[in-house]
Amino acid sequence: MMEQPITELSNPLSYNIDKASPKEIAEILYACDLEIFYGWNETKGVRDENVINKIEQLAHKISEVIENACGAVVISGCGTSGRIAFLTARTFNKYLKSKGGNECFHYIIAGDDRALFTSLELAEDDPVVGAYRLQQLCQNKTDVVYIGVTCGLSAPFVAGQLDYTLSHLDIYTPVLIGFNPVHQARNLKIEKWDKTFFQVVQELEKAENSSKAYILNPIIGPEPITGSSRMKSGTTTRILLEILSLKAIHRQLSISELISMYESACHSVYKYTDDLGSMIDLAGASLTSGGHVFYLGCDGFGLMAMIDASECPPTYGASFHDMRGFVDGGFSALLNNDGDLSSQGPQYKISIEDFERDIVPSLASSDLVVFLGEDILHKVSESIFSAPCKRVFVSCYWPNNVPTTTTRSFSLSLVLELDVAKLASLNSDPLKALITKLLEEVSLKWVVNNLSTGAHILKGKVCQNKMVDVKVSNNKLFHRAVGIVQNYSSLSVEECTTILLKSIYDTDSLTADQESASVVAHIEVASCKDMVVPTAIVIASLGCNVSEAKEMLKSQPVLRKLVCALVN
Ligand code: F6P
Repeated sequence: MMEQPITELSNPLSYNIDKASPKEIAEILYACDLEIFYGWNETKGVRDENVINKIEQLAHKISEVIENACGAVVISGCGTSGRIAFLTARTFNKYLKSKGGNECFHYIIAGDDRALFTSLELAEDDPVVGAYRLQQLCQNKTDVVYIGVTCGLSAPFVAGQLDYTLSHLDIYTPVLIGFNPVHQARNLKIEKWDKTFFQVVQELEKAENSSKAYILNPIIGPEPITGSSRMKSGTTTRILLEILSLKAIHRQLSISELISMYESACHSVYKYTDDLGSMIDLAGASLTSGGHVFYLGCDGFGLMAMIDASECPPTYGASFHDMRGFVDGGFSALLNNDGDLSSQGPQYKISIEDFERDIVPSLASSDLVVFLGEDILHKVSESIFSAPCKRVFVSCYWPNNVPTTTTRSFSLSLVLELDVAKLASLNSDPLKALITKLLEEVSLKWVVNNLSTGAHILKGKVCQNKMVDVKVSNNKLFHRAVGIVQNYSSLSVEECTTILLKSIYDTDSLTADQESASVVAHIEVASCKDMVVPTAIVIASLGCNVSEAKEMLKSQPVLRKLVCALVN
């Protein structure tokens, strides 16, 4: 049997997270997040010396590229990884521009910009489109650092790009960021392609041995919700990309000092586990009673929150209405590749004006509005404060930058006091402002990840620490779903695959065509259905037929209760 990669393992620290109180949920998430800095088992997390050395060398290469008018730093990934690529490119281009430099950072996301805030997982499976997008973007470039991010060392989209760069090493310096040891890179056939991710990584290792490529893969342990790479892996991706970029622009910065700043931001956030617990409680009550959670923020805060919300549909089988984010200025503030997408459907209505027009009139007492940062309070109209919903305010507080007290009334105000001491040594104000912004954003990422994860746990969408209502929307998630079904039965992989297919095709007897169809064909059918995995879990544990399983799910909509009862 194939070894499970670390990013797909169940984290023992969170095994009982489904039975924890809201405050305990925050404590468990803290313990898991600390593995980013302290490592997992024998590993050292982001403090691994080998990783720090590689960051040092790579930052040097990036600084050369930044100076070159035909140079580019391209960051690419799928889902959260692509979204964080977008945020990083946006932040550092703004910074370079403010200093009169070239805006040489670029991002690519599988599924293009529509995937920035909505889930389009199937696009992750296409290595050919991945390579094509990169080739298009870099047509006139002569020196490119390409950074492919795939937390699980698995995304075919990124594999296609890495493979392309490996055959153009005269122009490209390929970099792979992920959080598994290289021998755990995915070794499954990629549809319509002749290599596996693992084979591409083997080539990359050869290039690395001759100093032509880099693999940055600190081991940070399994996710608190098994496989949910938007959490620790997403945060670590941010930290690595930001440290690399900061170090490339300001060579005097110390990598270890920068890591310590992120670590101290993490401790600062989790000093507030009581408040985080109360916030999770409020959000959980909203979702459980059929209400919604809306995040509002300016700039990076709004974008960070939208990224958080966008992962709830694939992870928890949530509807896009359940949790949504809105950013001041909407697309005009985004600086994204494809410009304004707001005409493409309700998912792409992302401005505060859209929120005030489409949502505020129907806000109910079961809804929760989360204001992120002080600035947003000056951007929204009074009507939000008289709506019958609940309101939470989250902001950051630096001892020398005390927020002005607001007269608004909130159900909860969470003002994080961040540690300013380490910033004091920086002698450039723009740099200080940039690092402050990055630390605030990562802090708010921890907060919103707590909120959305905790709320879905309270809604019953997590059993032990498994996402039992994951959407079967790409190859990786298909195989993860089979693993989850197997976890709740004593059946073989083959038997669980057959049961998952029965649930997907809604039949007790699969036709020969259904059985032999490709994984992509299964995904196309599964993507537009609800409760595919829960139905399969019930069938696997009770040996019942599809309609009986669906009846049971109707009678007990709190999934966790049903699955626990079955397991016991
Ligand atoms: O397939 C969906 C997803 O699991 C997202 O949740 C995640 O952000 C994305 O894949 C990227 O995964 P990776 O970084 O491992 O390629």
